[in-house]
Amino acid sequence: MTRVLYPGSFDPVHNGHIEIIETAASLFDEVVVAAMVNTSKDGVFGLDDREEMLKVSTSHLESVTVKMFSGLVVDLASDIGADFIVKGLRAVSDFEFEFQMAQMNNAASGIYTLFIPSASKSSFLASKFIRDFARYGGDISAMVPAPVAARLKEQYG
Ligand code: PNS
Repeated sequence: MTRVLYPGSFDPVHNGHIEIIETAASLFDEVVVAAMVNTSKDGVFGLDDREEMLKVSTSHLESVTVKMFSGLVVDLASDIGADFIVKGLRAVSDFEFEFQMAQMNNAASGIYTLFIPSASKSSFLASKFIRDFARYGGDISAMVPAPVAARLKEQYG
């Protein structure tokens, strides 16, 4: 049985993330998705809110569980017995940073990170752009799961 950990900010989760989660669920037996703190980003939604949006947006996937965690990704991976960390790659620009994190996490704990390339229909999606569009009344309904669109509307009016 192979269990993978998919960590991210998910502030909020969008359809590009859902695509990576669905792909991971088709490749591995168990996927644990964790809403975590990225210290280089100011979080907008609280971790509990992000966890809730992830839960409702992945409820169609039996092998997926959702957590929130404030700490090191390698510690969570060890706590849950993950075999691999999984990350999505949208573009070459993601690679350098993701590669460095993967090496750091491997050096610290021995765990490997597997990269899943994003499909072209999702590769432009980013939570920060979705928040901007939602804040200024843009239509993001095709870019996020319906419960997330509703939550964004509640947040920004
Ligand atoms: O969706 P993001 O913002 O690209 O996700 C980044 C995240 C949350 C996975 C990364 O910042 C992270 O792993 N945070 C937890 C703290 C940690 O382990 N930092 C060391 C990374 S080498």
